[in-house]
Amino acid sequence: MDRRSFLKHAALGAAAVGIARTATAAEMYFPVKADQSLFATINRAKDPAKRNPLEQKHAPVIKAPASVKAGEPFIVEVTVGEVVHPMGPTHWIQFVELNVGNEPAGKADFQPRGFLNPKVTFTVVIPKEAAPAGKVTLVAHQRCNLHGYWEGSADVTVI
Ligand SMILES: [Fe+2]
Repeated sequence: MDRRSFLKHAALGAAAVGIARTATAAEMYFPVKADQSLFATINRAKDPAKRNPLEQKHAPVIKAPASVKAGEPFIVEVTVGEVVHPMGPTHWIQFVELNVGNEPAGKADFQPRGFLNPKVTFTVVIPKEAAPAGKVTLVAHQRCNLHGYWEGSADVTVI
């Protein structure tokens, strides 16, 4: 083997090892392939009456009274989703948060150990000045490590 041939093969070998190490590191950090397009936007159920399997598992479902009294506490339950999302070391819900209109109300963080179901109960109080039109929209968000950021909402009449 002449010098030129040796150098050419050595360079190709080094490049191949570098690419293999990069792929291995990426696979170790992200052991399950994720659809990157789900992380580019806020995902919602396109037709809430006819959800596909991904939407059924990820779109937050808000359970709240249709009508509440201003200044009095009421219970809001947020579940991810209609079919409760699995919780485990490679696929889990990272957090659930609730907004009252545009205002953040609260957030629950989860660990990837699988001890908790992605179901959170909030006690909410809406002052009269927060609902001048007699109505507010509760907005829930959640983030799945593999399937991105999702949103669900529910309107509540405030009397
Ligand atoms: Fe998921």
